[in-house]
Amino acid sequence: MKLSILLACIGIVLATRHCHDDPEPPQTYVFSNTRSSGPVQTNWTPKYSACHHASEPLDKPRVMPQPNTTAWSKWHFDAVNQNNPNESIAFTFVLGTEYALPKEGSKTGLVTVNVMFSFADGTTKEVKIDSGEGEAGKVVFQTTQYGSTATWGNTGTRWSGNGLADFPTYAVEIESEEHGIHGTLELVSTSTGRYPCVTVPYLSENTTLQTLSGLGWTNQIPAAKAIAHFTIRSDERRKSTTLNFDNGLGYHDYLFGDRPYFSAVKLWQWGHALVTSSSSTASYSLIWFQAADIASKTFTGVYVEEVGKDAEAQCADGDNELLKLEDNDAGTYVKIRIGSDLTVDLVIKKQEVRPGRWVGPALATIEGSEWTGTGVVETLKSH
Ligand SMILES: *[C@@H]1O[C@H](CO)[C@@H](O)[C@H](O)[C@H]1NC(C)=O
Ligand SMILES: *[C@@H]1O[C@H](CO)[C@@H](O)[C@H](O)[C@H]1NC(C)=O
Ligand SMILES: *[C@@H]1O[C@H](CO)[C@@H](O)[C@H](O)[C@H]1NC(C)=O
Repeated sequence: MKLSILLACIGIVLATRHCHDDPEPPQTYVFSNTRSSGPVQTNWTPKYSACHHASEPLDKPRVMPQPNTTAWSKWHFDAVNQNNPNESIAFTFVLGTEYALPKEGSKTGLVTVNVMFSFADGTTKEVKIDSGEGEAGKVVFQTTQYGSTATWGNTGTRWSGNGLADFPTYAVEIESEEHGIHGTLELVSTSTGRYPCVTVPYLSENTTLQTLSGLGWTNQIPAAKAIAHFTIRSDERRKSTTLNFDNGLGYHDYLFGDRPYFSAVKLWQWGHALVTSSSSTASYSLIWFQAADIASKTFTGVYVEEVGKDAEAQCADGDNELLKLEDNDAGTYVKIRIGSDLTVDLVIKKQEVRPGRWVGPALATIEGSEWTGTGVVETLKSH
């Protein structure tokens, strides 16, 4: 551990001894499935506590009173079977129009959910379920102390997060007769939450959630154990496929913006991985992003956690040593250099799930030893 980090930790321990945690009381938000214009409030500031604790749920909604036709919010959950990365699941719950979020946004209203499954044989199933009009179509969103629960109108989807602990448990459920999809994804967090460039204990009055101008990001669950049980009716064969695994790698974050996604972002590349040592039970959870704003200015961020031990998060502007990404037909190469004391070289084999998204086996060299695991990589580009 670097001396500066050690000193910072001692500082945190001292500051924590005499502090008073003041978590946000539970709140209920209702978002109607109707479009509106006029300005909305976007809250880019995390709630800061002298206790160096999260004093709010990291995935609470931050576009108020609700997104208009150009602002947006999306809550993302994903999971991949570590025993066979061909099997993966992604849920993206959206409050936003198709104009604000091409492909993912709602065609007619504001409330929609995108669901994707990929199967062992390499096939995929993707559906987008728009919520209905009126009362039935509205989202009811409740925050608990450190987590959230939401019912996504009448799409047949919801999530519930027990937010009482540093390591929350979330369940994402779907019951859709129309699409023949039923099941639950359970995430048991193994990492504490993080903001884009900082882990919770290092929050300060200067922390902003604005990762690049007009785009905010929080990461409630950087890594989780994921358990999946789904049955999915297959359209062609008229029979059901099941997707079951209990050794998954899970993830959950929240992104939001005050302008259409591609008015803030030209290129967004990100990914996450979990790798385990071949000679011990130690593992590393890794998250990275590299983005270009509409002026082509680049921003980079990395998060490296030795699971159950230390976590480091850092961001940088422009060309830098912190993160180098390289892509070819075989895979994505990720080089992370945090300060002078931690080096990660990671490669994620390219098994494309859909254009711009792949999930595959990961191989890492960290501090000279070999680590293996699973990774998820995504690229979003404006046209
Ligand atoms: C939506 O809200 C944002 C942020 O206040 C504002 O800049 C934008 O003009 C609004 N959009 C519309 C269509 O009113
Ligand atoms: C994963 O899917 C690919 C096709 O995309 C297939 O070639 C490969 O054998 C599958 N892997 C496993 C472990 O089933
Ligand atoms: C926050 O920013 C102010 C003004 O730039 C600076 O003086 C202060 O040291 C910063 N605080 C922390 C904790 O970084």
